[in-house]
Amino acid sequence: MPGKILVLNGPNLNLLGSREPEVYGHETLDDIDQSLRRRAGELGVTVDCRQSNSEGELVGWIQQARGEADAIIINPAGYSHTSVAILDALRAVELPVYEVHLSNIHQREAFRHHSYISAAARGVICGLGSDGYLFALEAAAKQHDQRG
Ligand code: DQA
Repeated sequence: MPGKILVLNGPNLNLLGSREPEVYGHETLDDIDQSLRRRAGELGVTVDCRQSNSEGELVGWIQQARGEADAIIINPAGYSHTSVAILDALRAVELPVYEVHLSNIHQREAFRHHSYISAAARGVICGLGSDGYLFALEAAAKQHDQRG
């Protein structure tokens, strides 16, 4: 069975392309989703890419992923640094979680250095721009393959 990977993006990532391009790059979220879909096709997995500015909606999508998705790739954006609720939801669904940040959060303001989400993540990729999502996808697909 092909793996199904849920890709979640948190608040303000809908503004990628115009939002602080010196930090987040010039690609839009649509560009990133398209590259993910292309690479997913090559890897033989499917991706379901969603974005929300609402913590509750993200929690709802994570809960629904139980029994439906094989892995979650998430850029929780600002909620990384505040959301125990997203951490709890990710723990509850017991799926492999790959956390992605476009920027290197450790080189930025001190309040960005800690992510609540990392405690539930199999792996964390930060600072590699949109390639981070593709590397997370490779890891998720490889892991799904190994489990058969
Ligand atoms: C981000 C980093 C966060 O600190 C920030 O709040 C974001 C984006 C990143 O992708 O680099 O919105 O998650």
